[in-house]
Amino acid sequence: MSVVVIVGAQWGDEGKGKFIDYLAKQADVVVRGQGGNNAGHTVVVGDKKYALHLIPSGILYDDTVNVLGNGIVFDPSGFFAEYDALKAQGVAVESIKISSRAHVVFPYHRELDALAETAKGDAKIGTTKKGIGPCYMDKVARSGIRVGDMLKPTRFAAQLRRQVEYKNQVAQSLYGVAPFDYQAILEEYSGYAERLKSMVCDTVAYLNDAHEAGKNILLEGAQGTLLDIDVGTYPYVTSSHPTAGGFTIGTGLAPNRIDNVLGITKAYTTRVGAGPFVTEQDNPIGDRIRKQGNEFGVTTGRPRRCGWLDLVIVRHAVRVNGLTAIALSLLDVLSGFDELKICRAYDIDGRECLDFPADLDDLAAAKPIYQSFAGWQEDITACTSYQELPDNAKRYIDYIEEFLGVPVAFISVGAKRSQTIIRQKLF
Ligand code: GDP
Ligand code: IMO
Ligand code: MG
Repeated sequence: MSVVVIVGAQWGDEGKGKFIDYLAKQADVVVRGQGGNNAGHTVVVGDKKYALHLIPSGILYDDTVNVLGNGIVFDPSGFFAEYDALKAQGVAVESIKISSRAHVVFPYHRELDALAETAKGDAKIGTTKKGIGPCYMDKVARSGIRVGDMLKPTRFAAQLRRQVEYKNQVAQSLYGVAPFDYQAILEEYSGYAERLKSMVCDTVAYLNDAHEAGKNILLEGAQGTLLDIDVGTYPYVTSSHPTAGGFTIGTGLAPNRIDNVLGITKAYTTRVGAGPFVTEQDNPIGDRIRKQGNEFGVTTGRPRRCGWLDLVIVRHAVRVNGLTAIALSLLDVLSGFDELKICRAYDIDGRECLDFPADLDDLAAAKPIYQSFAGWQEDITACTSYQELPDNAKRYIDYIEEFLGVPVAFISVGAKRSQTIIRQKLF
């Protein structure tokens, strides 16, 4: 019996999907606890590639229960598009359970997300425009509509009418756009409610029962530590807590139920969207990483910004998540470089800093202090053990491990399940 949290240690897209799928083999239950279909998790099985947005990455195993917990924001149109596509590919989707407490994303959330971004001009965050921020805003304002509400037709109709009336005032007075159509939304969402009925339950009770029954539970983080609304690069963040603490709120499993926290860490750094990025390589080095790593967004298709590994960030992730192990991913992408660099501290106005700055101006002023490493030329995609890796790759890994004081328990050398080096078991 074990509860393992998987979180992204950087700005998202660290390869969480691959590791969730990999560990899901030993899990009984896989749970999303925050975010929504702003996530894009890639799982490669044989020749097939799956892009998962809202449905947990444990779905590809027939005997795993997949749960969307209370902390997520649920877009039924996105959900059913994904659900139907997986079903058409022969994936068993019957195991999905959805929290009655999760908040629902409506068309007005998506549109207001896009309108707010346009209005911000150069100060835009670069959101996925999936309505995530506006939906969490309604939740915190205590005016949101929850999945459970959708199953109560009379109550739902009244709640939705109030919300649409209010959003229309906002849309018209702030942005001068056409009003949202209450009747059309009601009909669309009443149809979803019919389909959702059998999947909706009290997931807090379900997960605690599963824990008490000794099940292995895998908590699937979306986004990454630096996108956390509190400890990330605010305001260039998402509107949830993609950190270990967020899971206890977002699933209803208490903090002392968690046994291990695995931080997925890319062997370099990427970010989509705006905001400071100290080790960014907006040059041929970054272009090469983007090409070798195929660094384009799964959800929006945007090219990802690329740079050297930044251990100031990962050290911050170790602390705020209590990481007990690291999975180092996409190491193969660094093959072929003569020299590799790892940022070990920031120089901020002549001061050497190890702590990740809270203030964006400090972050923008930070200059990376690099440790240089000789690269390796060998193709490492077929390596199945640490011993088989080139010495220079071992030195790179050893440095990360020593610097962070956390074991690198897994090393990923390719997108497939088989391209995973295991140094420590979590379940
Ligand atoms: P997530 O959002 O954290 O699940 O990550 P994404 O799926 O957005 O991005 C990671 C990308 O890297 C996907 O295209 C994966 O298939 C791919 N990937 C994962 N691990 C590896 C690896 O070790 N090597 C390579 N070359 N690709 C990987
Ligand atoms: P996965 O789970 C990378 C980023 C967006 C934007 C900011 C806010 O695949 O790692 P939002 O739509 O959430 O309000 O956008 O957060 N972002 C991600 N970046 N990976 C993700 O998910 C992301 N989800 C959101 O690009 O900068
Ligand atoms: Mg992703």
